[in-house]
Amino acid sequence: MAGSTTHQATAKDREARLVVAVDGPSGSGKSSVSREIARRLGAVYLDTGAMYRAVAWHCRSQGVLDDPEAVVAAVQNIDLALSVDPDVERVVVGTEDITEAIREPGISAVVSVVATNRAVRELLVARQRAEIDGHRRIVAEGRDITTVVAPDADARILLTASAEARTARRSAQLGGTVDATALAEQVSGRDARDSSVVDFMTPGEGVGLVDSTELDFPATIQAMLAEVDRQQAVNHPNHPNHPEGDRA
Ligand code: DC
Repeated sequence: MAGSTTHQATAKDREARLVVAVDGPSGSGKSSVSREIARRLGAVYLDTGAMYRAVAWHCRSQGVLDDPEAVVAAVQNIDLALSVDPDVERVVVGTEDITEAIREPGISAVVSVVATNRAVRELLVARQRAEIDGHRRIVAEGRDITTVVAPDADARILLTASAEARTARRSAQLGGTVDATALAEQVSGRDARDSSVVDFMTPGEGVGLVDSTELDFPATIQAMLAEVDRQQAVNHPNHPNHPEGDRA
């Protein structure tokens, strides 16, 4: 039951090493949900989709999007700074703040070009692992975090929602500015292209599933934190939530 476990992290709990991996398709709400669980868990937040978007923006600005080798070279040399503070959304390439630019439909339309380039993925996966290793407590979110980037995470969750719910959420996010056909392409079309290189629609072995179709935001947060606790209890016998652990 989503509401049956309340996460009451003690000061000591909040010092322990914790890696939470979250994957899911577009519009599943995983960015805002992951950001909020990072706050609740006293962790930093890594938005790996923002890395792919920043790379797409950079390659487009260099005019190399249609040249796979030049794309790889651009990624090798990119000077990318990404905030991992869950309260600060900031993406900078060189001296240019592209926080807003990477969310534009023009970037959403081309990001799969870089996300489906295997050499680009290898470079970004290495950066993501370094970022995870560099922080004591981190929630990392994307498409291949539970399976490729951090298969040894303390908790791994696939956050899904029905296609209808995801399209409706994306529409609300964009303030009704995108017509229905373009929206369906953004949500389902992009997922179809991206899932040709990573499967983020079915949970991998040992990955927990949270379906938010019928849940509002607070209920989704509850369900996610309950799943983090459940997996920590299973993976770490000394965790306070372990069924046979010391609860004193
Ligand atoms: O989550 P998002 O919409 O910001 O992701 C942007 C793109 O990056 C999307 O096309 C999927 C891709 N992506 C990926 O392939 N692997 C990740 N770990 C994160 C995102």
